Amino acid sequence: MSTLPLFPDSAAVADGELVVGGVRTSALAERFGTPLVVYCEQTLRARARAYRAAAPDALVAYGTKAFPNVAVLKLLAEEGLGADISSRGELEYALRAGIPGNRIVVHGNNKSLEELRACAAAGVAQVVVDAPDEVELCAQAGIRSILVRTTLGVDVDTHAAIATGHHGSKFGLPPELAMETLAAARAAGIEAAGLHMHLGSQLLDAAPGQEAVVGLLQVVLEARERLNGWTPTTIDLGGGLGIAYTGADAPPSVDAFAGGLVRRFRQEWETHRLPQPRLILEPGRSIVGQAGFTLYRVGVVKATGDGTTYVAIDGGMSDNPRPQLYGAVYEALLAQRADEAVAPGSFAVCGKHCESGDVLIEEARLPHPRRGDLLAVPATGAYTLSMGSNYNALPRPAAVLVGDGSARLIRRRETINDLLALEA
Ligand code: LLP
Repeated sequence: MSTLPLFPDSAAVADGELVVGGVRTSALAERFGTPLVVYCEQTLRARARAYRAAAPDALVAYGTKAFPNVAVLKLLAEEGLGADISSRGELEYALRAGIPGNRIVVHGNNKSLEELRACAAAGVAQVVVDAPDEVELCAQAGIRSILVRTTLGVDVDTHAAIATGHHGSKFGLPPELAMETLAAARAAGIEAAGLHMHLGSQLLDAAPGQEAVVGLLQVVLEARERLNGWTPTTIDLGGGLGIAYTGADAPPSVDAFAGGLVRRFRQEWETHRLPQPRLILEPGRSIVGQAGFTLYRVGVVKATGDGTTYVAIDGGMSDNPRPQLYGAVYEALLAQRADEAVAPGSFAVCGKHCESGDVLIEEARLPHPRRGDLLAVPATGAYTLSMGSNYNALPRPAAVLVGDGSARLIRRRETINDLLALEA
């Protein structure tokens, strides 16, 4: 099965070579070096537009953590998106990209007073309170409107490290405490605008979200009774839509997942004759994940005693720790031999770090790789560079944006001097 559908929308093979945004991958590697994370402008805009079309009256706040990048944030802002931020650093990226405060939503399970003050100064739309004592911090910082994050006891089918909707999550508050926190906010003179939910990430099934909307409705109905007719003016339904990492993944479309969630929400609220609040969505991975892929250069290719053939690349767990963290499975393509038949068996694509666990793909199906080949790994636009490290003092890769036959640098490659500059 072809790996091409896992790459950005503009991906094609011409003369046996992977071409994205009208640019040959060999030209990208030549000009910018490897490892290189390549983003496709067409795909980024298409995903942003899909969200805007699925939920025209919602604020779509891009989950900046997936890939904090000023050029990408600017492009998404042009498409009408805002940003979900969860640290002072992410706030500064959003502001640098010109995202207005009223399109910024603030997260974090342990916000500092200093962070909240910066958010207040930026005039953010909402701070999502994650613990009762954050109300006091918000009041001190001068935050005027909050949402309270609640856990609805909905289980989702994803890696345990990225599931958040269950009771016992480190995020959010069970409904009882969430209601008390809304009341505390009102008592502190802060607008208790509404509730927030986020069930988890890399969700390939829309059903739990629909279930959660019904749970949310119950919390709102109860809160109305307890808090003298309190009615939410804003509800944040979170993010979570997954992407295809391999041919075996079949994510729902943006419309089926996010549009379906919003339609279900509107319908439930209608049925209960509740005033329709403003909705917020917070997609991260489904905006940038498929838009990005990573280009590596193959070095050592060697057979081992048990028959495994290792194909070593010039990066690894420092630019993509997802296999180690979540057991993530990727596919790959030899970018300049894209129309060659795959060899029998499989290859273990490993990084250059000093750990046996530094294996990016355990069983890649490829033509027999050779030193100097370019290896392209699709679906690496989200949570790769943003979770990268400098393990083994490796400088982190550059990122480029391609479209209409040209490429531009959107994040320069780190240098060893950048690393040494931190040393005392
Ligand atoms: N909203 C909140 C409150 C979140 O915590 C997250 C992600 C999002 C929105 C965006 O979720 P998305 O649409 O991207 O699923 N590093 C992990 C993923 C961590 C997700 C963190 N929160 C990974 O590589 O799979």
